[in-house]
Parts: sequence; C-alpha cells; structure tokens
Amino acid sequence: MDKILITSALPYINGVKHLGNLIGSLLPADVFARHQRLLGKQVLFLCATDEHGTPAELAAQEAGLEVSEYCQQMHNVQKDLYEKFHLSFDHFGRSSSKENHYMTQHLAERLERAGLIEERSMRQVYSLVDQRFLPDRYVEGTCPHCGYEKARGDQCESCTRLLDPTDLLNPRSAVSGSTDLEVRETRHLFLLQSKMSGALRSWIEAQKTWPSLVRSIALNWLDEGLEDRCITRDLHWGVPVQREGFEGKVFYVWFDAPIEYIAATMEWAAKDPEHRNWEDWWKGAPAQSVRYVQVMGKDNVPFHTVGFPATLMGADEQWRPVSFIKGFNWMNYYGGKFSTSQKRGIFMNQALDLFPADYWRWYLLANAPEGSDSSFTWTNFQSAVNKDLADVLGNAFNRLLKFTHARFDGHIPTIDLSAADEDQYILQLQGHLTAYHQAMDMLEIRKSAQELRACWVLCNEYLQSAQPWAVLKEDPSLAKKRVGFAFCLLHSVAIMSRPFIPELSQKMLQMLGSEQGDMLPTDAKALVALTPLGGKLEPAEVLVQKIDDDEIDVLEKQFSGA
Ligand code: 2FM
Ligand code: ZN
Repeated sequence: MDKILITSALPYINGVKHLGNLIGSLLPADVFARHQRLLGKQVLFLCATDEHGTPAELAAQEAGLEVSEYCQQMHNVQKDLYEKFHLSFDHFGRSSSKENHYMTQHLAERLERAGLIEERSMRQVYSLVDQRFLPDRYVEGTCPHCGYEKARGDQCESCTRLLDPTDLLNPRSAVSGSTDLEVRETRHLFLLQSKMSGALRSWIEAQKTWPSLVRSIALNWLDEGLEDRCITRDLHWGVPVQREGFEGKVFYVWFDAPIEYIAATMEWAAKDPEHRNWEDWWKGAPAQSVRYVQVMGKDNVPFHTVGFPATLMGADEQWRPVSFIKGFNWMNYYGGKFSTSQKRGIFMNQALDLFPADYWRWYLLANAPEGSDSSFTWTNFQSAVNKDLADVLGNAFNRLLKFTHARFDGHIPTIDLSAADEDQYILQLQGHLTAYHQAMDMLEIRKSAQELRACWVLCNEYLQSAQPWAVLKEDPSLAKKRVGFAFCLLHSVAIMSRPFIPELSQKMLQMLGSEQGDMLPTDAKALVALTPLGGKLEPAEVLVQKIDDDEIDVLEKQFSGA
C-alpha cells in the first residue's frame, strides 16, 4: 500500500505537554511517518489540539481568558513546541474548527437516522453559584465508604471505590467550592453502542497483527459488556447539539475529538486545491486502499477500538476503519506519573531550554514504554546522550571527518565499491537494516532504535579494525579504500538515523556534502551506493555535546518535584 494515513492521539489543549505525552504518541507517530516517507510512501500525518470539555473551560478560567481565546493561544504554543521537536505533521489542526463542527454534527445526524441515538433523561448535579451542571469529577465531598474528605464524584482516590456524585457526603463544587448544589433532571443523547457490540468484536478479533496490549484492552472492554454511551453534555464550549430542547448542550469531548481526525483532513484540504480529493484518504475501494495507523497511550485504546469505530460503523457511509493501532504504556517519572495537574516531571518547553530536541528524541524513543511501563531517569538520559550519541555515533563521525580533512584534502575518497572486500560489513549492515525496517513497520520503536544503534556501533567497529590512520604511511591506497568505505557506512547510518534524530542526521549529511536523505533503500548495497564518493566535505563540527555529571546532579534536584 502506497498511501499511509497516520494520526497521533490529540493532545489536550490545557497546557504545555510533558515528556510522557510526547513519548506516549506524538513522537513514535512522527518516527513512523518519517520512516514511511523515506520508503517513498505517500504519507498524510495528522494531529490537532483536543480543545473541548471541562478541563479546557477550567484552564481558561484559571488563565482569566475567554475559552476561545485561551484555546487559540495554547494551540499556538503547542504547535510551536511540536515544530521545535521536529514533529513532521502535514497538518496540525484544532478540534474546535468549523470542519469538526460540521463533521461531528453530520455523523450524529447519520447515527440518528440509523436509529442508533436515543434521548434519555438523567439526574445530574447542578451548581447554582456556578450556574452550570457539574461533571462527576467536579463534585467533591466526603467518601461514604472511607471518610476521605476530598473524594471526587466519580471515584474516591483514597479507597479507589467508584462513586456516583450523589453518594458523596457534604458535596461541593470543585469549580467554586460552593455547597449550593441540587440534583436536576437533564436530557441527553445516548449512542446505542450495545447494538454494535457483535460487529465490533468480530472486527477486533480479526485484527491478528495488532499488538497484544491493544487487542486485550479492546476485548476486555467488550467482555465487560458494552454500555450505551452518553454523547452530550450540559456545557457551552463544544460542538452544539442541533436538536430541539438541546439548546445550550454540546457533544461530549470524546465524541468529537476522534472525529477531528477526519476534520483535520478537511482542514488540510482547505489549505490547498491540490488536496481536494481528501475523501480518498477516508473512503474508497480496498484496491486503492490506504493503510491507516493510529498511535496513542493505553488509556485511549477503548475510545479508538470501540467508541470511534462505533461512530463510523453506525454512520454507515463506508468510512475507512483503522488498519493498525499502536498503544503505549506509561513512562513514569521517579516512581510516579508525569502529571500535568501536579506539574510533575519535565515539560516540553523546559526540555528544549535545556538540550537540543534530538537528545530528547533519542533518549525517549530508545526507552519507549512498549512492553511495559518505563521510567525516566536523568542518569539514563545522560548516558543515552553521552554514550550512544556522543561516544558511539559522534565519535566515529568526527574522527573520520577530521582525519579526512587532514590527510585527504577534505574529500571522500573515490573507491570502487564492486571491488571492495568489505562484504562482511555489508552483510551485517543488511541484517540490521532489514530488522530495522521490519520493526518500524510494526511500530516497534525500541527494537528499531536498537538496530539503528547497532549500525552506529558497526561504523566504530569498522574504523577500529580497519585503522586507516595506521596503514596510511605504508599503504596509502589501502588507507584510501578504507576511508572511502568508512564513509559509505557513515553516510548510510546518517540516512537511517533520520526518523529518530532528524536534525543531527541533517547535520551529518551536510558535513558529508550529501544531498541525500529523502530515501532509504531496503537493500544495503543500494543504500551504500548513495554515498557521494569523491565529494567535498564541509568542515567538521562537534556533533553532540556531552552532558557532565554536575549538570545532571543539578537537574535531578531542580526537577525533583520536592
Ligand atoms: O488522552 C488524551 O490526551 C486525549 N486528548 C486524546 C484524544 S485522541 C482523539 F481521539 F482525539
Ligand atoms: Zn473512599
């Protein structure tokens, strides 16, 4: 399949995201998108800010801004940070766009027509002072089971029992603290998911190549019995429900957010007349098909395996279902979670103030929380930078460049590759390259990072054993052959590194005087043949700056959260 649609889970608008968010979906999706482009695929990589819901309203309130103004500002802040982290979205949209309003209302109408929407009456807590209904978790009070005084209306953090807001003793609004609350009757729309349970199960069971984490979360969700889902809320900010008696109500944020994947495609299309056939990405016969890959943290899996597919299936308009879902576990921060609300961990703006984006990209990707949760530690970060990037990759690179400037007049020697007797290195490169491509295809990020690193090591091993500097005096033509071949290996890894560390890869290619970097062959000989033999090198610059122990000590303390 030549067309690849990729979406990363949409980051919530309420604040700058932390490194846990970055590695939980945005970054792996980017590596995959970049890799697919290097293979020559036609890629559409989309993301957007997830802007609706109570957290957005409250964050705006805290910032003293109108919610629309807050979202506009925060969208720009996030977009800028993602660019600085080299996330290569083809479009970074907004779930509050007019396209998403249109598509959300359209799909709701289709579901209604299919008889999959039902109006039901519910009892909900209303705050007279705040003049609004309160979502469950914005009602606080004393837990009837354990007496914890700050229990939330959906769950008690202390004894973990699930609660209903009306269970709480001495309930109060978490928005204003007011106890002037009453339970009011309110009408809402329910999506009759239970009717689609069988179809969803057969579809998920047929997805044999999906990672087990994703399949098991999805099937567990279905095993517990699929309940009909309330898809509207008593809020002002969101996509309005166009229905009599529903004035002042909007769709639930988890209903409209995934629809933004489609709407983002429309936003992308609106920017350029060339993209007017945007629907081909979402509909169409299997023959001209598209591989659609979604990337997300594990908490998002139920919404993408059950919630969103139920919307698309129920709308009955031949929307393309997702082909492959990659789910991630958590990256923890010193035993606890990264947390936006508790400001715990490292946030993307702070990270960029400290070190270049690629240092973070490499560390996070090489330690992605795939098989299980992983933990961020400053010393592991330091070692990923100092050992992998500086000692292994940077060192081989700088050493060879300097030597060539000094002894070969700054030119990559021209060698006859067909006569090179370095077959065993080509074979080894091929082994890693094949494994790298295979792992990447399944979004096994750690595995592909390991294969890449093994290629960096291979460059060092070659230099170590070929020792062109040692043979230069006695046999200059042998030294020349070896230097030429070493450049072939380095040039190859510079391209292979591109999805992981795009800026460093670009720097390497630039110093090598290469114009390559847009294509990564699957055949090692073809890859090696891209080396600009005979070309002039740029002056050598240090590729990676090591981080010293004192600096790490300071950072550990600064970010201890204490
Ligand atoms: O968990 C989250 O961060 C959500 N904002 C993800 C939404 S993904 C999609 F469906 F929009
Ligand atoms: Zn309790």
